[in-house]
Amino acid sequence: MSVIGVGEVEAADGTLTIKPGDVLTPLARDRANERGLTIVVAGSPSPGGTGSSGRGTPPSTEQSPVNLSDPAHPRSVDASTVNALYRRGTPVSPSLQSRPRTRTPDGTPRAAVIGAGHVGSIATVRLAESDLFEEVILIDLVEGLAAGIALDLWHDASIAGFATRIVGSEEMSALSGVDYVIVTAGKPRTPGMTRTDLTAANAAVVGPVCEQIARHAPDCVIVVVTNPLEEMTHLAQIRSGFPAERVLGMAGVLDSARFCSLVGLSGVALPSEVEAFALGSHGPEMVVPLSQARVKGRPLTDLMPADQLAAIVERTRDSGAEVVSLLKTGSAYFAPGHCAALMVTAMASRSGQVLACAVDPKGSYGIRDTRVGVPVRLGPSGLESVVELALQPGELTALRESADRLRERIHEVA
Ligand code: NAI
Ligand code: 2OP
Repeated sequence: MSVIGVGEVEAADGTLTIKPGDVLTPLARDRANERGLTIVVAGSPSPGGTGSSGRGTPPSTEQSPVNLSDPAHPRSVDASTVNALYRRGTPVSPSLQSRPRTRTPDGTPRAAVIGAGHVGSIATVRLAESDLFEEVILIDLVEGLAAGIALDLWHDASIAGFATRIVGSEEMSALSGVDYVIVTAGKPRTPGMTRTDLTAANAAVVGPVCEQIARHAPDCVIVVVTNPLEEMTHLAQIRSGFPAERVLGMAGVLDSARFCSLVGLSGVALPSEVEAFALGSHGPEMVVPLSQARVKGRPLTDLMPADQLAAIVERTRDSGAEVVSLLKTGSAYFAPGHCAALMVTAMASRSGQVLACAVDPKGSYGIRDTRVGVPVRLGPSGLESVVELALQPGELTALRESADRLRERIHEVA
């Protein structure tokens, strides 16, 4: 097996013949693409066979061209950041630190994730898999951690079929000019802790991190994941100085997903057939307005008895603690990482999806001056509008009470 680099590509004339098992670096692939080279894998089957992508090549005496316009590899690789992908612990290249980054000419956005722990790693792979981004930058202060995870995730690119570059860094300057930043930096809770017990420790992380985000990516949208969610989202807005529309908290997407998936466990519908929102707080004041829950257009309340639904709401509210108590160390991360990425992909793809996010409703539902989970329509630059559901009077009262409690808590942090 040989690694085929740019040198071999430059030296080739019209056709570059490589052996089965040889690795073509992304940069070499790009350069070959630019030069219009045909790459032939010696000993692979004829075009159209499994060897044409360079993967799983069975032995044969024929030669087959590599498909450089494979949709799995549609975008170019930037030479300035390749080192960060390929060598563990490699410092960020000077060009990455200093180069003013703007959107690529075709407008492909760039995303970043701060905190290469459990949630951050999953969020990163989900963002990369969406293939909506030019690159995803993963940042952690632990030496080598983000670079190692970035490299590990990138190794999956050829089988997962994404081309979004994943870059690991220890430097906040690597954020320069990114469009979306997910903040997962901070401590998770351990059994017996409430999310609020994390306030002081995580405020000391999230505050400075958001100042750095504002410095290096002043036009980005921030998605906060770190707990306690509403407090950290409010703090992120204050310390970044961003308008409220560009600082969103991720919890309602997760709590809604948990509710729908738990309904799915009952067997009345598939999890993906359940439509419902979890609003209010990411905690005891969570509100699941059952009047709005549907399965294929039918009210969920017609399909399940009230006591069973009440038990599912209760379990949803306690789901975070349920996972913590099973894991013993750390908290949930697969679903949370996916949910944070979903908010970013909804914005980047302009899907117009309505998602429950922690925002300042600014008068919607009669609520203002707080951070609370409500359904919102997201656009490429963050919050576009709060969606007002026709809640039952009791549901609206519960949502307003939740907002009142959160107002007290977030103002303590500020
Ligand atoms: P983790 O401990 O696995 O990862 C946190 C990472 O942040 C660590 O790698 C740490 O080195 C890094 N970090 C700390 N300070 C940093 C800084 N200043 N700059 C860059 N990186 C820094 O924790 P996990 O499980 O990923 O959880 C992260 C946070 O997300 C926790 O606060 C947790 O409670 C919260 N969370 C929130 C959810 C929600 O629904 N909003 C769901 C799940 C977790
Ligand atoms: C969760 O709900 C810990 O907030 C996190 O899983």
